Amino acid sequence: MTSLTRIVPWSQQLICEVLHPGELAVDLTAGRGRDTLAMARVVGSEGQVVAFDLQPAALEQTSDLLQRHGFVVHSWPADKILPRSAGVFLVQACHSTVGKVLPSPARAIMANLGYLPGGDPLLVTRPSTTLAAVQQSLDLLACGSRLAVTVYPSHPGGQEEGALVDRLLRSLPSDRWHVLSLRAANISQAPYLLVAERIG
Ligand SMILES: C[S@@+](CC[C@H](N)C(=O)[O-])C[C@H]1O[C@@H](n2cnc3c(N)ncnc32)[C@H](O)[C@@H]1O
Repeated sequence: MTSLTRIVPWSQQLICEVLHPGELAVDLTAGRGRDTLAMARVVGSEGQVVAFDLQPAALEQTSDLLQRHGFVVHSWPADKILPRSAGVFLVQACHSTVGKVLPSPARAIMANLGYLPGGDPLLVTRPSTTLAAVQQSLDLLACGSRLAVTVYPSHPGGQEEGALVDRLLRSLPSDRWHVLSLRAANISQAPYLLVAERIG
């Protein structure tokens, strides 16, 4: 059973409901690959999922998970533009390179911030690069596309990181964007979700 205040299932649901088979989705923080897998399942073998992570260990876990579920996985260098092509593409690079790697609009983009569960908590997403990745991601969204960012305010720098993303998304014009903020109202420092949908 899904707990009401668990944020990751909400983020996967709000992203996967706008994705269709054959489309392009992006995971800005591959981690253990669970979000990448959720999106790959929806876009299917004709679709494309591009997942970024700085850590080889994260990309290895993502690759193993996706291959165990029957997906074709490729590695892609961060200094080359990625063609529109079916499969799961793993990029070992900072997500602030997303605008350079991806030429075409994506239907859905996820960023589950923080550090690799079970990994080094010092290898954590950072406010400035997260903000750059989110800004570039907004430019990659077409009408009807969504960006979902899960923020962990309890890790060092997490509050500042969340505040920057929150401020940026709140500033988007309401005639072109819908922005949702979803958080547990009675749990302090709980993770929360920000979702932007381009409507025009
Ligand atoms: C909370 S985990 C992501 C969880 C993942 N989406 C999943 O489904 O398992 C955060 C990940 O972000 C990665 N990360 C940290 N800074 C990054 C950056 N600048 N660019 C890309 N990935 C980064 C970490 O290495 C870590 O694996």
